[in-house]
Amino acid sequence: MSTRRPAGSVSHNNSGRVVLVSGGANGIGRAICDLFAESGATVVCLDVDDQAASGLQDGIDFVRGDTSVEDDCRNAVEFTVEQHGGLDILVNNAAIQPPASYVPLDELPSEAWQRMLGINLSGYMFLAKHAVRVMKKQQSGVIVNMSSGQAHRTARGVPAYGPIKAANLHQARQWGVEYAREGIRVVSVSPGAIDTPLVRASLEAQGGEKELANRHPLGRIGRPEEVAAAVLWLSSQAASFVTATDLEVDGGLGAFGSFADPYPLPESP
Ligand SMILES: NC(=O)c1ccc[n+]([C@@H]2O[C@H](COP(=O)([O-])OP(=O)(O)OC[C@H]3O[C@@H](n4cnc5c(N)ncnc54)[C@H](O)[C@@H]3O)[C@@H](O)[C@H]2O)c1
Repeated sequence: MSTRRPAGSVSHNNSGRVVLVSGGANGIGRAICDLFAESGATVVCLDVDDQAASGLQDGIDFVRGDTSVEDDCRNAVEFTVEQHGGLDILVNNAAIQPPASYVPLDELPSEAWQRMLGINLSGYMFLAKHAVRVMKKQQSGVIVNMSSGQAHRTARGVPAYGPIKAANLHQARQWGVEYAREGIRVVSVSPGAIDTPLVRASLEAQGGEKELANRHPLGRIGRPEEVAAAVLWLSSQAASFVTATDLEVDGGLGAFGSFADPYPLPESP
């Protein structure tokens, strides 16, 4: 019988590696937790959603915490190291995009900006800061920041999410350069539209599922496992010369254009 693996299968063996995933209870983070666990890694999920986390597969540890709170981030890193002896991979994934934030800047409630800044940007920084302290001692580690296609190209209606996702790219570049000589790689991943609760909550603002799918040259939106597979590769030895850069996992969206406008353009004069 052939031992060839089918195209697209992921063959990384992560046994002995310890992974901390923020926002791992749902969507893309959940798929990342699952794929790392299936590849033999020890996985810790940090999330605010206890209910969804109760459905995590056996063997995945859950730490309840809000990534916008530095103490919660420190606690999750400490728990991981105390329980499992180290931290090899941090996936900064927890982020929010409330449907009410799909408005022009002058209509954006400042509370929405502050909340997105706290979770989507400061949260990544808090977790990375405490993870790096561990990784420097180990002289090894990988950090993956979940960014977005919205970081590279923009659309109307994302005055907070777009700029803050762009900052996630630059966090990865800056930290990647800073810690390259300490054996720590830092990268970002920029998904196109992926079928998760976050996207389902904003389908209307994106013109509906069909319109959103059509904007991707592959003619569909992506699956969380397809983003997880990229994260696994980037975290593996196969990507040992990849740092301070970004990988778009977007069905070709970036080469084609951008996400849909959430509201009609005014008539041109
Ligand atoms: N789904 C997409 O199309 C898409 C596209 C581009 C980028 N992304 C990015 O991918 C990542 C995951 O998105 P998703 O679609 O899976 O989202 P999701 O809403 O389905 O899941 C996000 C998870 O983060 C958790 N979370 C939210 N706030 C938190 C906090 N303060 N502390 C801890 N956990 C918190 C939620 O409970 C949830 O489990 C995000 O960074 C998002 O910006 C998603």
